[in-house]
Amino acid sequence: MALPVVHSCVHTMRNLLQKLRVQLILGVFLALSCPVLAAAPALARTAIGTAAVAAPDRYAALAAETVLRRGGNAVDAAVATAFVLAVTFPEAGNLGGGGFITLKMGEELRFLDFREVAPLAATRDMYLDAKGQPIVGASLVGHRAAGVPGTVAGLWEAHRRYGSRSWRELLQPAIELAREGFVPERKLAEGVADSLPDFAEKTNFARYFAPIVEHAKAGSRFRQPELARTLQRIAATGSPGFYSGHTAKLITEEMSRGGGLISAADLAAYRPIWRDPLITRWRDYTVVSAPPPSSGGIALVQMLRMKDLRADDFRDVPHNSAKYVHLVAEISKRVFADRAEYLGDPDFVDVPAARLISEDYLRRRAAEVRTDAISALPAVKPGLAESPNTTHFSILDGSGNAVALTYTLNGGFGNGVVVAGAGFLLNNEMDDFSTKPGVPNLFGVVGGKANEIAHGKRMLSSMTPTLLLADGHVRMVIGTPGGSTIFTGIFQTIVNRLDFGMSAADAVAATRFHHQLLPPNLIVHSRCCTLGDAATASGLSALGYDVRRSPWEFGDIQIIDVDANGQISAAADPRGRGTTRIFEARTRLH
Ligand code: DON
Repeated sequence: MALPVVHSCVHTMRNLLQKLRVQLILGVFLALSCPVLAAAPALARTAIGTAAVAAPDRYAALAAETVLRRGGNAVDAAVATAFVLAVTFPEAGNLGGGGFITLKMGEELRFLDFREVAPLAATRDMYLDAKGQPIVGASLVGHRAAGVPGTVAGLWEAHRRYGSRSWRELLQPAIELAREGFVPERKLAEGVADSLPDFAEKTNFARYFAPIVEHAKAGSRFRQPELARTLQRIAATGSPGFYSGHTAKLITEEMSRGGGLISAADLAAYRPIWRDPLITRWRDYTVVSAPPPSSGGIALVQMLRMKDLRADDFRDVPHNSAKYVHLVAEISKRVFADRAEYLGDPDFVDVPAARLISEDYLRRRAAEVRTDAISALPAVKPGLAESPNTTHFSILDGSGNAVALTYTLNGGFGNGVVVAGAGFLLNNEMDDFSTKPGVPNLFGVVGGKANEIAHGKRMLSSMTPTLLLADGHVRMVIGTPGGSTIFTGIFQTIVNRLDFGMSAADAVAATRFHHQLLPPNLIVHSRCCTLGDAATASGLSALGYDVRRSPWEFGDIQIIDVDANGQISAAADPRGRGTTRIFEARTRLH
């Protein structure tokens, strides 16, 4: 994996300058202090260019557009957008969860890991009963399901490193939406109504969020005054406004009320981590994607490479035909077998990342793919459940900087616990650990030792915020929710666009399917649509597949695409309530 290029001199200087508010002398100061860059006349200038946003709701898209039009860069826009989603997209937008950013700022390619961690009091068998059996729902609902949140620390760190607009200014849209309210859309109200029974009698979810249903019907505003005050504390002091002081006190009080594990020490110890993104060549592109503790980047690259290694088999095979679906299923089951065995938090286990995506290894794996029949693989517990409840947005600013940000509470509305007095939901990300080897999580995927619970450890993710570059320029910014369907969905969308020549909008709208090892014959596909045509159904059934429509819609892909001529398009998945914007914007260069 290549190392990102880091011009720390520029950034140290820039952060200092922001603090001193002496931007007028930027050029002179840099010329004196940073001689390597003294000759670069672009430093103090602005660039005008086309910016694009694909975001999961209209408030988020508007927040990003406003920041970019005012001269903010892609990271400024991402910070504002993520805080807005914490207000208007409560099923996944969050302060109480965590996520990942893959970004390109200037020449730098970086990955910020603000994934939740297991609290200090967490233990390997904490979700098992006295007989060693999993306690149903224990890692999903209520206080004990929450990992230590990472979102606020992550956004603060991204801004500290790359932001050019003031932090307070970027939080303002979220504060206003929480204080003044917003009119909830029908899809949000449906999500709340569906989730109410899951949390009834167990958490305080209904007290805070049930009113959304009535507000959506009446077309009136849903206000969140406690959340507005929490956001104000964060706006005033940054990350400490969440991890210490009054907000931290409210979190630990909530934990005491519900027997949760997150302590003041956990909050004080939380740190986001800059990691080397997974950077690798695929065809003429540079793929920049999520490294462990996400499985997403490795899995995506494994799929893309294995497809090419079996190029002869894929040649002229129609989109979503029985043969196409079968070949992709054969590839993805091998990816899921690796995921269960090898992947976990790289700070706790040695993940053989380079080997897993190496040409030699994948050649051997791809050779195992059967074209004529379903390969039998060792039993792995089946099951697939989905809910569209992570969220992702893609931003490209006018100077070609890009942010792909995916963050989550895990299940819809997380563990259903609202921190009383602070007005935000907590995650149920602990379920992404392997609670017991071989026992499937919410997404039906299993894991082993590499992903067992340990305090301070990050749980394995599938989130895959990804950039494709060609000749150093951004060609695609992409990501999605969907649990274990995240990287299979991104893979299909990339292939739809690049191999089947679909527009970005068609590539995203096309029916997606998913197979995750076992049961060996189960293929689920998008709830919205049929999979291929009648011949697809009969062909897959003849091979022995059980093809089912997913009970939930999976994926809410947000893509920005730049074609070889520089033409920019953007698409928000029609399965969600997202929207896109493309406009000219002036960005201040570093
Ligand atoms: O990190 C992960 O892979 C999961 N917690 C993501 C959950 C998700 O995408 C839920 N939405 N469908």
